[in-house]
Amino acid sequence: MDPTSPPGRSVAPLISVQNLSKSFPGVKALDRVQFDLRPGEVHALMGENGAGKSTLMKILAGVYRKDSGEVLLDGQPVEIESPAHAQSLAIGIIHQELHLMGHLTAAQNIFLGREPRKLGGLLLDDEQLNRDAQVLFDRMNLALAPTTVVGQLTVARQQMVEIAKALSHKSRVLIMDEPTAALNNAEIEELFRIIRQLRSEGVGIVYISHKMDEIQRIADRITVMRDGTYVATVPATTPMAEVIAMMVGRTLDQADKHIPDTSASEVLLDVRGLNRGRAIRDVSFTVRRGEILGFAGLMGAGRTEVARAVFGADPIDSGEVRVRGEPIRLRSPQDAVRAGIGYLSEDRKHFGLATGMDVESNITLPSLRRWLRWGVFLNQPAIRAIGQQMVAKLRIKTPSLTQTARLLSGGNQQKVVIAKWLVQDCEVLIFDEPTRGIDVGAKSEIYKLLNELAAQGRAIVVISSELPEVLLLSHRIVVMCEGCITGEVPGDAATQESLMALATRRD
Ligand SMILES: Nc1ncnc2c1ncn2[C@@H]1O[C@H](COP(=O)(O)OP(=O)(O)OP(=O)(O)O)[C@@H](O)[C@H]1O
Ligand SMILES: [Mg+2]
Repeated sequence: MDPTSPPGRSVAPLISVQNLSKSFPGVKALDRVQFDLRPGEVHALMGENGAGKSTLMKILAGVYRKDSGEVLLDGQPVEIESPAHAQSLAIGIIHQELHLMGHLTAAQNIFLGREPRKLGGLLLDDEQLNRDAQVLFDRMNLALAPTTVVGQLTVARQQMVEIAKALSHKSRVLIMDEPTAALNNAEIEELFRIIRQLRSEGVGIVYISHKMDEIQRIADRITVMRDGTYVATVPATTPMAEVIAMMVGRTLDQADKHIPDTSASEVLLDVRGLNRGRAIRDVSFTVRRGEILGFAGLMGAGRTEVARAVFGADPIDSGEVRVRGEPIRLRSPQDAVRAGIGYLSEDRKHFGLATGMDVESNITLPSLRRWLRWGVFLNQPAIRAIGQQMVAKLRIKTPSLTQTARLLSGGNQQKVVIAKWLVQDCEVLIFDEPTRGIDVGAKSEIYKLLNELAAQGRAIVVISSELPEVLLLSHRIVVMCEGCITGEVPGDAATQESLMALATRRD
């Protein structure tokens, strides 16, 4: 096969999947799915949370074994038995959650278990190791020292190391499962540059993402899945509204934005003169009952830092936080929760989700004291009912309430964390990137929910890096840049341009 020939009908697929099925206990994750990948194409895989995208790719990467169906590699049937086997077949994957060893260097991670040796195999040859890694980084046009300890790298850079690792196995197939979920715009551009480079070298790339704009920019073809089944494969020039309709099986109605007049409502959250090193500089704002306050800004502007400080997760140098006019002690998140402040972290893997516990416990445990009868006995039926109610309300895709959270798809894990905070009944709720990794249909459900929460009289803060999201949701928008608030705009007067101008203002 000539790897330089352009993608087209005549090109034989690198990988072709036919009638593939896979079940987990209680879940038919894949039901007679088909898929093919050509050399030198970026093939986007789209579908709602839990549609089966990651499962399909994990089968190709040897993480799971298929139940039935066929996988052809260069036209020949293969049984992919293990991740090592997939690598030897030149299939590389970058998982939804990164898998690197934080204490090892970039080069050590790339060649883990196959380090070059010297003196007849007695000693590791670190110089050769670093040289080999450098060759890969050069090929990717990446300025990164092979000796950097991975734990010190940004998520984006770690992702680049993962790509280098996949390339070190001479991958002809590279699978990327939501690679940009935690990247900023500049980092996404860097990733796209590398993807285009690999594509021109004839690598076939599978690209999983919920971000429509990215898919339109980078993909050549799109395959849509729904509920574990194959829907269609279409050119990436297909109008996105059509693709979305295929994904969700219905057309989505855009929620009309209505900004209530809350000018006379009680101030629930009042933050005054907050300071923390250079990260937070003299930040003050208020949120009233019934209001949704948006926080816009570039990644690193200090929005998460402010949220964490208000939540008592990080110490502050100076400043005051009042809830309903009362100054609160802010030594720990427990203090904040007691005062009625909830914080949905942007990092669900480290804060938020207990991956080893089941769905029900994740939703109800943090508010367990609410389910005590006479202050002692747990009211099990009430706990079960609230769990069921949340699963239905947020459409969490899970076979049961007792399913281990780790086994849910990425987007459904995020929904579980949201459910947990809804149950806690906090009057002030801070949502940090609430729709990261969440599919379009579920996104609009979460928007509806935030509006409902505000209408019930809570004060909502939404931090989001997606400007359209901030614009759609917020009644009022605060913009941050380098630790400072650089402006405040009414929700109905703001535009992407005006927010960007404030987000990049230097002082
Ligand atoms: N190891 C597992 N054990 C049990 N069920 C699983 C396992 N892995 C996946 N599932 C289930 O299989 C279905 C498909 O999950 P998958 O992770 O493939 O979805 P996805 O399309 O990648 O979703 P997302 O967009 O949220 O990442 C889901 O219902 C999920 O809960
Ligand atoms: Mg997934």
